[in-house]
Amino acid sequence: MAANMHEMNHPDDQIINGSPIPTFIIDRDHTVTHWNIACEALTGLLAKDVIGTKNQWMAFYDKRSNVLADYVVDEPDEQKILIHFEGNARKSTLIDEAYEAEAYRLTQGAGGKWLFFTAAPLKNAAGQITGAIQTLQDISTTKLAEEREHEFNIKLAQTVSELQSSLELLRETQHHLVQSEKMAALGGLVAGVAHEINTPVGIGVTAASLLEEKTRECAALFSTQAMKRSDLEAYFQLALESSAMILSNLGRASDLIQRFKQVAVDQSCEEINTFRLRECLENHIMSLRPMLKKGAHSVQLQCHEDIVLKSYAGALGQIVSILIMNSLLHGFEETKAGMISIEVIDQANDIVLTYRDDGKGIPKENLEHIFEPFFTTKRNHGGTGLGLHILYNLVTQTLGGRIKMESEYGQGVVFRMQIPRISPLNRSLFFHATSSAEIAKVSV
Ligand SMILES: Nc1ncnc2c1ncn2[C@@H]1O[C@H](COP(=O)(O)OP(=O)(O)OP(=O)(O)O)[C@@H](O)[C@H]1O
Ligand SMILES: [Mg+2]
Repeated sequence: MAANMHEMNHPDDQIINGSPIPTFIIDRDHTVTHWNIACEALTGLLAKDVIGTKNQWMAFYDKRSNVLADYVVDEPDEQKILIHFEGNARKSTLIDEAYEAEAYRLTQGAGGKWLFFTAAPLKNAAGQITGAIQTLQDISTTKLAEEREHEFNIKLAQTVSELQSSLELLRETQHHLVQSEKMAALGGLVAGVAHEINTPVGIGVTAASLLEEKTRECAALFSTQAMKRSDLEAYFQLALESSAMILSNLGRASDLIQRFKQVAVDQSCEEINTFRLRECLENHIMSLRPMLKKGAHSVQLQCHEDIVLKSYAGALGQIVSILIMNSLLHGFEETKAGMISIEVIDQANDIVLTYRDDGKGIPKENLEHIFEPFFTTKRNHGGTGLGLHILYNLVTQTLGGRIKMESEYGQGVVFRMQIPRISPLNRSLFFHATSSAEIAKVSV
């Protein structure tokens, strides 16, 4: 009979059958009365096999089970519907007493599908429920996209967190490296200081103990009254020589200690000042005139007199003296009339100071070492190898600038320093050991 209803060609049947929306209807007894073509296409279950039966479940389940329309036909129990659809169900906001649900279902055809159901009760004129109509919508594509997006988001979150932890690790490693570089530099510095100080102090101690020993002998001789004039003369001679040796070595040690103290950035208690750069440089060059005059060396200064710095004038002066002393001691060793030029140009917030000499220059193999503490080619001729190390710290730390050096053996040296016109630094009381990594960076 139900099949007959299907064949009846009632106008309603035509609307339902011709609808592109997969739709089926059950009556009060849960028997299928309509199963449209779109529903056949979606579920793979044919109208002729399902109309007149209660087998609507076959489109969705392996075994007999309620579909949404079955709940709606009876007094719908929202709780049961929710449990059945695992929370994926709700009352329709559009149609009174209708329900909506989502489920991953459909046993017919190839694979499963995500379906969206709407089921509404059908009522007669008296308002009594006579059946239920259910529509189906294939939402697999949307679901898939949602799932993909969800997966993508999870992966993204994972990647971000992985990136974050590697960044953290990187930061830690970097911090650690900087620390160990500093420790290594500091260690090297301490070893160097010990080594340098050792010689004058050692000689001083030897001389002092000799003096002590000879004084004792002399005193003993004196007390036995067996002392001869020549004994006393010999003692005087030795005492003079020893004290001279002690004095000169203590002097050397004291000089060294003065140099070591300069390695620390905050060697002077200098305050930041506003000053004219040209005047400052001129004064320092002037103070070195006597040294320059020993040869026939000359210094040329090119600096606009209006350039004003708010920085550490003393540090700049020290930089110039270190460079000039080096030119005199190393560059002009075999030159009678060396030329030094200091050129300053204005560059936005910085000044660029280029120092040149036309001396013998620095051999390639030494270039990467010249800023290292204790690197000197004049170990036994008064060099400690701290000059350029101090200079490097002054430029990079005290003045907050950068330095680059170029030299070719036989072609003199070029030091180029870029220094902020307004010092960015707060004076720090810390000892800054320069890391060799930083040194490597500038000695290109
Ligand atoms: N103008 C220059 N010409 C040639 N070589 C130079 C020049 N300036 C520096 N050097 C080389 O760089 C080395 C390091 O210079 P640095 O000023 O650090 O030490 P130093 O002059 O040897 O000793 P210190 O300055 O501590 O007395 C020098 O020993 C020298 O070999
Ligand atoms: Mg020097």
